[in-house]
Amino acid sequence: MEKDIKELYDAAMKVKEKAYAPYSDFHVGSALRTKNGKIFTGCNVENSSYGVTICAERNAIFKMVSEGEQEIASILVIGDTEKFLPPCGACRQVIAEFSTKDTPVIMCNKKGEFKESTVGEILPFGFSLNEDR
Ligand code: THU
Repeated sequence: MEKDIKELYDAAMKVKEKAYAPYSDFHVGSALRTKNGKIFTGCNVENSSYGVTICAERNAIFKMVSEGEQEIASILVIGDTEKFLPPCGACRQVIAEFSTKDTPVIMCNKKGEFKESTVGEILPFGFSLNEDR
């Protein structure tokens, strides 16, 4: 695993421990690096009113935006799954808002293996008001 990915992987593993998931018991961690080189992390935070649960990826992205950054250089997601955990549809849309089509999306499994894709690949024909995206 190259150094850039390893850093995101370690950060996502660490924040996954903070997941608040008493309803699904499905713990997710996400870490992203911005164009300025800063890393932001997020875990999923569930609620007894299930629909207001927030996913790990959106948690990380909202933290990034609230700290004044808006450009994702790469984003990684990990859960305790056999398969490479893909971001949900809602998260894909939010990732796309702050990415380009070529932005790497790194999906990990519980064995520490990963699959690298891009925003354009995981959200083809995605909606955007920005003609450049
Ligand atoms: N979850 C994420 O955090 N990210 C995803 O991309 C998929 C789903 C969370 C939401 C919920 O807390 C749990 O996983 C089960 O759906």
